[in-house]
Amino acid sequence: MSSELSNEPLVMGIESTCDETGVAFVRGNTLLADRTATSMDEYARYGGIIPEIASRAHLESFLPTMRQAAEEANVTLEDVDAIAVAAGPGLVGSLTVGICAAKSLAAALGKPLYGVNHVIGHLAVDKLAEGPLPERFVGLVVSGGHSNLLLVNDIATDIVELGGTLDDAAGEAFDKVGRLLNLPYPGGPHIDRLSQIGNTEAIRFPRGLAAGKDKERYKYDFSFSGLKTAVARYIEGLEERGEAFVPEDVAASFSEAVNDSLTAKAVRAALDHGVETIVVGGGFSANSRLRALLTERAEAVGLTVRIPPLRFCTDNGAQIAAMGSELVRAGVKPSQLTFSPDSGMPLTQTSMCCLEE
Ligand code: KG4
Ligand code: ZN
Repeated sequence: MSSELSNEPLVMGIESTCDETGVAFVRGNTLLADRTATSMDEYARYGGIIPEIASRAHLESFLPTMRQAAEEANVTLEDVDAIAVAAGPGLVGSLTVGICAAKSLAAALGKPLYGVNHVIGHLAVDKLAEGPLPERFVGLVVSGGHSNLLLVNDIATDIVELGGTLDDAAGEAFDKVGRLLNLPYPGGPHIDRLSQIGNTEAIRFPRGLAAGKDKERYKYDFSFSGLKTAVARYIEGLEERGEAFVPEDVAASFSEAVNDSLTAKAVRAALDHGVETIVVGGGFSANSRLRALLTERAEAVGLTVRIPPLRFCTDNGAQIAAMGSELVRAGVKPSQLTFSPDSGMPLTQTSMCCLEE
C-alpha cells in the first residue's frame, strides 16, 4: 500500500436497511473490501420482503460478514478511524440490528460513529469506482423505495431535494408490473431482461406528469402509478378478448415509459441548475435501458453521466463506508451514540446529528 493511501482515514461501513447485510472498509477513495450477505432468496415465495425475517437474518449474518470483510481488507478493528452505519431510510427492524452493532463497536473500540443516510450513500459509492465526485452535481436516486432528483452542492453537507415520485418508485413499479407479467419477485431485473428483446414501441404507454400544467408544476417529479394501471388494463383487455400478450413487448414498452421520464427530467434538472454531471445510484440504476438512454441523452447536450458498476447498485456496505469517508473529509461532527433509526430519514439530511465538542 502506498504511503499516500495509508494516510487517508480508514472507515468501516455497515449496511442493514433492507435485506442485505453489508460490511465494507474504505480508505479515502479506495475500497479495500466489501462483503454482503442477503436474505432475498427467502422472499420469492412471499412476493415481498418480510421485515421480521430480514431482521433475524441480519443478526445471524453480521459478525461473519464483518470478520470476512476485515480479513479481506487485511485490517483489524483497532485500525479503523471511523465507523459509519446506515441510519435510514429503511426498515426499522433491519436498521436497528446494524445500528446496535455499530454503536457497540464504536463504544467498545472508542471510535467515532456516523449514522449516515443510506440513499445518499447510493451516490457516494461512485467515487470508489470512478474517483472523487465533482463538487456539484445532480443526483438521480432510483431504487425500490426512491425515485428522486437531488441537487448535490456538497455530498457531505448540502443537498437540495428537487423532486421525487408522487406515488410508486421506479423499482417498485417494475416489481408490481413484474407481478402482472407473472415474473418472480423482485420483477425489476426480469423485466429488464425481457425488455432487451422486446419492442419499445409496441404499445404506447402514458408518461406521468409530462404534459400540460403538470409538466411545469411537477418539473422534477415522477408518477408511475397511472402507467402501472395502464399496463394492467392493457393485459386485462387482451385477456377479455381471449388474446395472449407478448411479455417482451409489454416489458419493453413499459420500461421505455419509465426510463423516458427518469432521463428527460434528470437532464432537464442538470441543465436548469448549470451542473455538468449527473450521478445515478440505487438498485434500479442496474437497469440497462436507464444506463443507455441517460448516457445518450446527456451526452447529446454535453453532460457527463456517472453510474456505478452493477455490483455497487444494490445495497452494500461500500456505499455506507464511502458516505462515512465523505463526512470525515468534510469535517462533519460524528453522531451522538443515542440516535435512533429513522425509516423516513429526509434526503437533505446526510447524517445523524452530532456530538458537541
Ligand atoms: O436500492 P435497492 O437495492 O433497494 C432499495 O429499494 O433500497 O433497489 C432494489 C430495487 C428493486 O425494486 C429491484 O426490482 C430493482 O431495484 N432493480 C431493477 C434492476 N435491478 C434491481 N429494476 C430494473 N432493472 C434492473 N436491472
Ligand atoms: Zn438502497
